[in-house]
Amino acid sequence: MQKLPKAAFQTTEKIWLNGQMVAWQNAQIHVLAHALHYGSGVFEGIRFYATKNGPAIFRLKEHVARLFYSAKALEMKIPYSQKEVAAAIVATVRANKISAGYIRPLAFFDYGKMGLNPVGAPVSLAVACWPWDSYLGGKPIRVKTSKFIRLHPDSVVGDAKVCGHYVNSILASLEIKKAKYDEALFLDHRGFVAEGPGENIFFLKKGLLHTPRLGSILAGITRDAVFSIAKDLGVKTKEGDFKLKDFYSADEVFFTGTAAEVQPIGSLDDKKIGNGKIGPFTTKLRATFLAAVAGEIPKYKKWLTFVK
Ligand SMILES: Cc1ncc(COP(=O)(O)O)c(C=O)c1O
Repeated sequence: MQKLPKAAFQTTEKIWLNGQMVAWQNAQIHVLAHALHYGSGVFEGIRFYATKNGPAIFRLKEHVARLFYSAKALEMKIPYSQKEVAAAIVATVRANKISAGYIRPLAFFDYGKMGLNPVGAPVSLAVACWPWDSYLGGKPIRVKTSKFIRLHPDSVVGDAKVCGHYVNSILASLEIKKAKYDEALFLDHRGFVAEGPGENIFFLKKGLLHTPRLGSILAGITRDAVFSIAKDLGVKTKEGDFKLKDFYSADEVFFTGTAAEVQPIGSLDDKKIGNGKIGPFTTKLRATFLAAVAGEIPKYKKWLTFVK
């Protein structure tokens, strides 16, 4: 196999590819793989955390279920059961002997057929994992609304994690990085706030938590966890259609996501949120979330799959 160039992130030893654990550098595919041309793949991002009982994968079952939901949107038949995929994910974490990190399962239409209709191309599945620290740093960040809008829900299956959809996220990320912001925010086709390129968004106003309703956004698994934690902290969440002005005038605003976890937003479109610092509710929510994923809260242990 060809030698790989040096990666900009910390790699591990093994990748699970089509039923076999292969050396990291040998997990390669052909340049005529269908997904490489047209984005006809589906993926997940999952985190695993260090706990006193070893690494624990956060909400494994829900992530695997969403992978299969995404595959269905592309009429892709993953040649494994959900149980087998979950077992492959556990095996990948175990094989790489790291205590915490990020897991990337990817199912895609592979080599064997060209033309847009992928049906008939073989489906491949890969699972990699690597150490990955906080994606946006955890400190309040500067967010800017993108000139690109979220994909129209009638153009795509917007709540499926399809590789091709992420060109929309890439465009927004390129745009805002050039302007020296930390992260982008999308409006939907109606002008309501949708989500970040890889995060859901919430705001707290007068003690009530608000978040965009489903429709143009990914049904985030962290978003769902935040619903439970907020409720347990005595805070109600309202899903609805919200404008940018609702966020500008909020007491606290934060992103949620597997990579971003609970990420405070200090300013949006150069308007300070509150005093620009992490607010008391976001502080409590973030601490509870991090304690939950570390296995420190018995009530939330049901979210963890321990890898011994
Ligand atoms: C577009 C988008 N929105 C929201 C999220 C957050 O979802 P989750 O909490 O399941 O990671 C993600 C990440 O998967 C995403 O890519």
